[in-house]
Amino acid sequence: MAALHFKQPEVSSKAYKLIREFIYNEAGIDLGETKQMLVSSRLSKRLRYHQLDSFDQYANLLINNQGIERKIAIDLLTTNETYFFREAEHFAALKKLVLDNHPAEQKFRLWSAASSSGEEAYSIAMVLDDYFGVSGKWEIFGSDINSLVIEKAKKGLYQCLRIDAIPPNFLRNYCLKGRGEYEGFLLIDKKLKHNTHFSEINLTKPLPDVGMFDVIFLRNVLIYFDAKTKENIIRSLISKLRPKGLLFIGHSESLKSMDLPIDLIGPTTYQKR
Ligand SMILES: C[S@@+](CC[C@H](N)C(=O)[O-])C[C@H]1O[C@@H](n2cnc3c(N)ncnc32)[C@H](O)[C@@H]1O
Repeated sequence: MAALHFKQPEVSSKAYKLIREFIYNEAGIDLGETKQMLVSSRLSKRLRYHQLDSFDQYANLLINNQGIERKIAIDLLTTNETYFFREAEHFAALKKLVLDNHPAEQKFRLWSAASSSGEEAYSIAMVLDDYFGVSGKWEIFGSDINSLVIEKAKKGLYQCLRIDAIPPNFLRNYCLKGRGEYEGFLLIDKKLKHNTHFSEINLTKPLPDVGMFDVIFLRNVLIYFDAKTKENIIRSLISKLRPKGLLFIGHSESLKSMDLPIDLIGPTTYQKR
C-alpha cells in the first residue's frame, strides 16, 4: 500500500506575520524573517485537525482563539532539545564555586528556569544528592512554558538516548533500567524526584512567588529572545537570586552590553553583586 502523503500548505507572508507576532507576544520568541518552513512543519497538523486549507485560516483562528489552541500552538512552536549533562563544565563549576561554600544549615535551592523535559534538572539533582548525601538539604525547581515537557519532566521516564554523558556511578545509583514494556527506558529514582519539582512558568510574564535561589540555570533559551526580552527576563530572574547567587547561561549565549547587577566570574557564569 502506498504511503499517504500530506502536502504541507505554504505559509503566506500575511499568515507568517500573524503567527510570528503571536509567538512573540505570548512567549517572547523572536522567529525572525525566515522560519516559514519551521512554522509549516510544526503547525500543519493543526490545519488538518481543524480541517483548514490554508495557514491564513489557521492564523485567524489562532489569534481569535482565547482557549486551548493558543496553548497548543505555543507548545508546538517552542524548541525543547535537551539532554543529560549538557555543557558538563557547569556541573563541575557548580561544585567548585557554590557547594563547597554553602552554609550547612541552609537548604540549597536551585532553579532550572527553562528546564524542557527535565534532563537538566535531574542531572543537577544527581550532583546534589551525591554531594549532600543523607542530609538531603537541597531542592530543585524546574519550569518551562511548554506544558507537555513539564508533564514529561514530572514523570522522569526517558528513552535511553544520549545518556552517555551520565557518569557511570550516577547511572547506577539514580537511574532505574526499564524492563518488559519499559525496555529501552530509564526511570529517575524516587529519592531525586522527592526533592525536584516542576511547574509551568512563562518567563516573559511577572513571576509567581517561587522563593529565592542560590543558583539559577537559564541555558539555551536566551537565543530565542531579542535584546529587550532577554534583559527583562534576566532582571526578573536576578531578583530571585540570593546575594552572591550564581546564574549559568548557555555556552553560545551572551549578556554583553547589558548593564546588570551581576559580574562574570567564569565562562557563561555570573554572580549577583
Ligand atoms: C532548547 S530548550 C533548553 C533546555 C535546557 N535548559 C538545556 O539547556 O538543555 C529551551 C526551552 O525554553 C523554553 N522556553 C521558551 N520560551 C520560554 C518562555 N518564554 N518561558 C519559559 N520557557 C520558555 C522552551 O519551551 C524549551 O523547553
